[in-house]
Amino acid sequence: MAVTIKSAREIELMRESCRLLAKVHKALEEAIRPGMSTMEIDIMGDKLIRELGCIPNFRDYHGYPASICTSVNDEVVHGIPDKHRILQEGDIISLDAGLIYKGYHSDAARTHAVGEVSADAKKLMDVTKQSFFEGIKMAKAGNHLHDISNAIDAYVSQFGYGIVRDLVGHGIGTSLHEDPQIPNFAQKRKGIRLQPGMTLAIEPMINMGRADVEWLDDDWTVVTEDGSLSAHYENTILITEGEPEILTLY
Ligand code: MF3
Ligand code: CO
Repeated sequence: MAVTIKSAREIELMRESCRLLAKVHKALEEAIRPGMSTMEIDIMGDKLIRELGCIPNFRDYHGYPASICTSVNDEVVHGIPDKHRILQEGDIISLDAGLIYKGYHSDAARTHAVGEVSADAKKLMDVTKQSFFEGIKMAKAGNHLHDISNAIDAYVSQFGYGIVRDLVGHGIGTSLHEDPQIPNFAQKRKGIRLQPGMTLAIEPMINMGRADVEWLDDDWTVVTEDGSLSAHYENTILITEGEPEILTLY
């Protein structure tokens, strides 16, 4: 599939889809506390999305059974909400959520601390978030896609963390996953030239230990192979003539 360039009307719909998703993320962040199950987070997120008149785009996506991906500690992404998975003080939890507004998809992820977490965990979360911002400094019309990938890698590598290679960011619009794929690690080729009107989900997934990941038997949950903690930070952005617009920030 070709990379799509959104019209002015489509950009307005993307903006609204992303604005609503940011509200969902904010509400979920405020609800996180020790003693809560990951299933409760999913139920709350699903309800919020529907109350906003939107559709949760993850539910039933290739059979994914929930609306919010809840990935705890060594779980990288696509953790499945579970009423028996109770958050403990000191855990970190990555919430990945998306929705469809008038046919337009949004996608964003955040890693949150549950109560007080270790200084190491905090640093991993901070570096992961900052790596997104380092990446999108390069997200300008005329630059190349892999300038983003290279900038994320250059920043994260200083800390000795593992950058997940098996999963990547993506274009987004009338489908959750559109071309192009957006790796978070250094690339030899330049990739496509960025153009105004492209909407992209940039989503570094960073492990405290090695980069390698594996899939659990549920066929969804991605975990670090070495059991180290992992963090995720994702926003849907718009390429413009100037600075990129981050559509899913609140
Ligand atoms: N944000 C996730 C991604 O881009 C979407 C998860 S799809 C789901 O891969 F099926 F796991 F929900
Ligand atoms: Co995504």
